[in-house]
Amino acid sequence: MKSVVLEKVTSLNHQASEAYKSLRSNIEFCGDDVRVIAVTSCLPNDGKSSTAFNLAKSMAENGDKVLFIDADLRKSVMVGRYKATGQITGLSSFLSGRCSADEVLYSTNIQNLHMIFAGHVPPNPAELLGNKFFRVLIDSGRKYYDYVIIDTPPLGAVIDSAIVAKECDGVMLVVSQGNIRRRFAIDILSQLKKANVRVLGAVLNKVDMESDSYYGRYYGKYYGKYYGQYYGKSEGEK
Ligand SMILES: Nc1ncnc2c1ncn2[C@@H]1O[C@H](COP(=O)(O)OP(=O)(O)O)[C@@H](O)[C@H]1O
Ligand SMILES: [Mg+2]
Repeated sequence: MKSVVLEKVTSLNHQASEAYKSLRSNIEFCGDDVRVIAVTSCLPNDGKSSTAFNLAKSMAENGDKVLFIDADLRKSVMVGRYKATGQITGLSSFLSGRCSADEVLYSTNIQNLHMIFAGHVPPNPAELLGNKFFRVLIDSGRKYYDYVIIDTPPLGAVIDSAIVAKECDGVMLVVSQGNIRRRFAIDILSQLKKANVRVLGAVLNKVDMESDSYYGRYYGKYYGKYYGQYYGKSEGEK
């Protein structure tokens, strides 16, 4: 298997790592049949990629064998954000039949964590994710790993994550505080349910621990607030 070094993985502070531990155990309580999990949200910048990666890392550190798949074929941040060194062949090459699954699978410097990066941006991401290669990949992931965590684009912008989630045991919705209207979240949930996807639950991200009285009272510390940019129109989507 090829290997990659993620040079820029920073360790989480105590509060954040405790939050991931409880997320991990909530997932364990969903049952043994919940092992392939897609992570999505309504909007860009809610924290899907960070949540998915940190959850995968937390599971790996706990001794589980984890495969992280970056299925945000439109706007992947993984290689740049974690400074993955070396020549990387990604998921889009495999899905378009240009290489084998072995060629896109990487072991990392985090024990028990393997990764598949997104690769070059293809012209037809939704079509590629809906093809049989993706299903085959998920099936073999299920055989060899305890958990497969899949990062996806926002469902409010493009359909990719619903396509991915259909192949998964469940989907986790990341919601960032103050970034979304209730109506929009409800629409996204009904979109997932219509696609017959099991919604495992939601993660409330970017909670301002200082100003929020409920969280502030219990945890009392700033955890991070971020105002992101909207994705705009997705590339490749008609
Ligand atoms: N809990 C948090 N606190 C502070 N910043 C965060 C938090 N979660 C994510 N971010 C930051 O927000 C930005 C968007 O996060 P990302 O995970 O890439 O979102 P998405 O994948 O939903 O577009 C990144 O710069 C990330 O570092
Ligand atoms: Mg992302």
